[in-house]
Amino acid sequence: MPPADRPRFAVTGRLPGPALELLSAAGEVADPVAATPLPRGELLEHVAGAAAIVCFLYDHVDAELLDAAGPGLRVVANVAVGYDNVDLGAAAERGVAVTNTPGVLDDATADLAMALLLAAARRLGEGERLVRAGRPWAWGMDFMLGRDLRGKRLGIVGLGAIGGRVARRARAFGIGIAYANRSAAEPALVAELGAERLELGELLASSDFVSLHTPLTPQTRGLISAERLARMKPEAILVNTARGPIVDEAALAAALREGRLAAAALDVYEHEPRVHPDLLELENVTLLPHLGSATVETREAMATLAARNALAAVRDEPLPTPVPLPTT
Ligand code: DGY
Repeated sequence: MPPADRPRFAVTGRLPGPALELLSAAGEVADPVAATPLPRGELLEHVAGAAAIVCFLYDHVDAELLDAAGPGLRVVANVAVGYDNVDLGAAAERGVAVTNTPGVLDDATADLAMALLLAAARRLGEGERLVRAGRPWAWGMDFMLGRDLRGKRLGIVGLGAIGGRVARRARAFGIGIAYANRSAAEPALVAELGAERLELGELLASSDFVSLHTPLTPQTRGLISAERLARMKPEAILVNTARGPIVDEAALAAALREGRLAAAALDVYEHEPRVHPDLLELENVTLLPHLGSATVETREAMATLAARNALAAVRDEPLPTPVPLPTT
């Protein structure tokens, strides 16, 4: 057990940028050499005696893991804006704070959502696969036609920090914005975008493109169900850069296969990293391996923010970006 003035930081994967140095200057850092998720048994051993766990979205932080860390644990600093991998109730019961990394990844994620929308509307994946496979092709008036963006409507599900940035980018392409939110969006943002607030069903039925930006919660799990997909226009495109389980993947694959939805572009999956086999068979779906925040600058910023949260917790200072915990 390290002395109290040298707290133990259990980092569960690689941290880019200055984050590790920041932590090492303040305590003992245990960081695994492997970049891939630690097997559960190793993870439980790895966190023993930690004052702070700095972890990633693939780490399942539950009561067992918190107990494996022991009573000295002060904080779980998740290197992600999403924190559906953390059992907040279990953390609250043990007096352990939880932090995330909002803000620093908004632009990178919005860029990727826009890239996916473009890829789906203009059939980039399909075209790239065709050329790369060496299949014959020739320019033709009706060859691989996509859809214009200008003049269309983008329905944003969750007009928050990332959704707002996607909407701004979409406006620059001449796209009109509608949104569905549980709580009211920021009035200044709504005014800037000229965005119309709709109930989710109405948004799905009237949008040409739908982009998901809501966190994964018990309320949003399965939100885009078979019934809701059936409300979408047959020429519509669905983009998901939020969390996979928000969409019923089997129902999505069926809608795409049967021409009830034109295309989908996904960065996240219901059972990540496994992709529903039916989706892999389809040309009208663009699939990326959860790259939303995957830029050098953004990953460094995420790691640094997580390190600052961990440091603040062990120093009893205000946490830069705490996650609200349920009251116990
Ligand atoms: C997050 O931070 O939640 C993102 O999904 C990581 O890319």
